[in-house]
Amino acid sequence: MPSVFRRKILSTPLLFVWAILLMFLPGSECMAQTPPVAATPPMGWNSWNHFARKIDDAIVRAQADAMVSSGMRDAGYVYINIDDTWEAERDAQGVIHANNKFPDMKALADYVHGKGLKLGIYSSPGAKTCAGFEGSYGHEEQDAQTYAAWGIDYLKYDLCSFGKIMESAGSPEAAHQLMLDAYTKMHNALLKTGRPIVFSLCQYGADAVWRWGASVGGNAWRTTGDISDKYWSMTQIGFGQAGLAKFAGPRHWNDPDMLEVGNGGMNLEEYRTHMSLWSLLAAPLLAGNDLSTMKPETIALLTNREVIAIDQDRLGQQADRVRAEGSQEIWARTLADGSKAVGIFNLFDWPQTIEINFGEFGFKGSVKARDIWAGKDLGRLTGEYKARVPSHGVVLLRVSE
Ligand code: GLA
Repeated sequence: MPSVFRRKILSTPLLFVWAILLMFLPGSECMAQTPPVAATPPMGWNSWNHFARKIDDAIVRAQADAMVSSGMRDAGYVYINIDDTWEAERDAQGVIHANNKFPDMKALADYVHGKGLKLGIYSSPGAKTCAGFEGSYGHEEQDAQTYAAWGIDYLKYDLCSFGKIMESAGSPEAAHQLMLDAYTKMHNALLKTGRPIVFSLCQYGADAVWRWGASVGGNAWRTTGDISDKYWSMTQIGFGQAGLAKFAGPRHWNDPDMLEVGNGGMNLEEYRTHMSLWSLLAAPLLAGNDLSTMKPETIALLTNREVIAIDQDRLGQQADRVRAEGSQEIWARTLADGSKAVGIFNLFDWPQTIEINFGEFGFKGSVKARDIWAGKDLGRLTGEYKARVPSHGVVLLRVSE
């Protein structure tokens, strides 16, 4: 190629055009790096919070049935995720098998897919999972191929015993790099299957995972340790997400752990706080209760379309804290249509009136507001608004110019 032409072709504006073209060439690395999953935070169900080790094929089928009959599927829930304890030993060829709780994983995936849902599974980069079952260490490609052959659509990849391997790295930096390499290895193995599989990192929010989770292929990364079905646990995690908004966006989300809604350890107002906060946080909405025995109020909490619309807003702009004063937390996020979702939270053990001013969310002049949980338009409001918020509860508003 003549050098003048070469210089021209590599000139800055043209280089930009080339880069864009390359991104869209079929089979190019750039394409491969962005499988079409998790454009909005994944929605579904996970077995761990309610069933833990007691999960089996029959329960998973019952959850899939209930996801449809309860209306959750139609509200946007898609993934039925099997967490830890499904794994048996490997065979002589190193292929992983499910234990006798899951007699035929492919048939289970077919069943779940037949309901218009998707199936998720769980493993670890370590030799053992957190519950002591077989992990993927040294078998990453083989496992990814097995998952793809079964028809798996989501992988939660939980650090667990890989921590021991990291201890032998020699230095904290080397240990950190080992972890990044381990996640990247499974990401590449999943890509190689050619199947769109959501890659969900779980390493409890250590090492500022939000800064590097996307670079190792994560579609979501746990930002915290395990949630429990208690108001203090849920709020500690939820309100602890302040400052992380800038790291989330389409295809890569902060994950403050699965929902506890409906598990019985919190009251209705507390679960309303849980749903509101997770939706403001653009968190994956993975129900963690028994879907086959839900009370109507649990279904109502999980399927409120306007709350889900906040979580699933296509802009993917996670909320951040606007202000906090001990017993009050005010959070807001900007939505694709220019409106804002505003959460007014009362942490007191008794009701209180919390005052906000629409100016603090960037509005000038009068606004149009809707109280989402009340399902009520508040009309046009100017300046201050006094919200009566129940104990441990929330008033969730959608506000526009
Ligand atoms: C860890 C994870 C949990 C769950 C268990 C399973 O504790 O953080 O979400 O997956 O492992 O053993």
